[in-house]
Amino acid sequence: MKRIAVFTSGGDAPGMNAAIRAVVRSGIYNGVQVFGIVLGFEGMMDGNFISMGAEGVSNIIQRGGTIIKTTRSPRFHTKDGMLLACDQLQKQEIDGVIAIGGDGTFRASEDFHQYCSIPFIGVPCTIDNDLTGTDYTIGYDTAINTVVQAVDKIRDTADSHNRLFFVEVMGHDSGQIALMSSIGVGAEAVLIPESVTDMEHLLYVLDKGWNRKKSSCIIIVAEGGESGGAYKVAEKVKTHFDRYDTRVTVLGHIQRGGSPTCADRVYATRLGVAAVDALLAGRKQEMVGIINNQIVYTPFKNAIKQHQPIDPGLLKLTAILSS
Ligand code: F6P
Repeated sequence: MKRIAVFTSGGDAPGMNAAIRAVVRSGIYNGVQVFGIVLGFEGMMDGNFISMGAEGVSNIIQRGGTIIKTTRSPRFHTKDGMLLACDQLQKQEIDGVIAIGGDGTFRASEDFHQYCSIPFIGVPCTIDNDLTGTDYTIGYDTAINTVVQAVDKIRDTADSHNRLFFVEVMGHDSGQIALMSSIGVGAEAVLIPESVTDMEHLLYVLDKGWNRKKSSCIIIVAEGGESGGAYKVAEKVKTHFDRYDTRVTVLGHIQRGGSPTCADRVYATRLGVAAVDALLAGRKQEMVGIINNQIVYTPFKNAIKQHQPIDPGLLKLTAILSS
């Protein structure tokens, strides 16, 4: 293994830069030349490769986003796109590739293998924390801390005005961000895709809060739930319960930016180094992860098969603490 490439793909996440840095520096440590592929699978098809040295990744561990850019690339999901990408990798004499991203990235990396035998190793990096094969994905810790900081501010104004807020958070079709941040902010309720929205119970919680003179209520709503998002839930609730003055906040892409937390920097560093080690050890089509503080390897097809399950004990906490 003399020349390896690294790319970032899908939605960016805080800690992507720290992972790139770890791959580049660990490649150099192992005597391997590292190339960055600019703009993910798009850059792979277009031959957009840049040589990366130790200095090029200085001062990026603390930066959000990704210095080598990212895309969602429908063009890659075709036979022609994949054959083109394989041709470009071969032209650059790339012996192995490190894919930094989430389930879409690993799904595409697995599909690609039927057209190209160059080994791929994945580094889990998405705010959604929805992959099997790692306790946490890079970016998740920063994202939930961003949500907590934002909702703490909302709580101040909600409390001053005696208002009910519905706060919508990201996560695609996973409720991990919503669940963990709801505990962190002391939300009155959380609605996630993994459990059916019990409207009656929600109304009961609100009514109980009103009766014991709660001055504010925060309901965290995961964007992907069958409830249809924060605006829809707020509308439905208002038709049955209109005592609180109600507002809706959609936090949106603020959750994807910002300087990564220390935990995300450390995950990114450990996983980036583990990915280089995996390629050097001859591993392929696997995602590196950390489970119980140990580095583990999970075949792409298993990592993407099902979401990281929700811990029912955590879900119960919000209910217990808001009662
Ligand atoms: O996968 C990360 C994520 O931020 C999801 O939580 C969200 O549903 C999606 O990406 C948004 O994607 P985009 O930035 O393409 O709108």
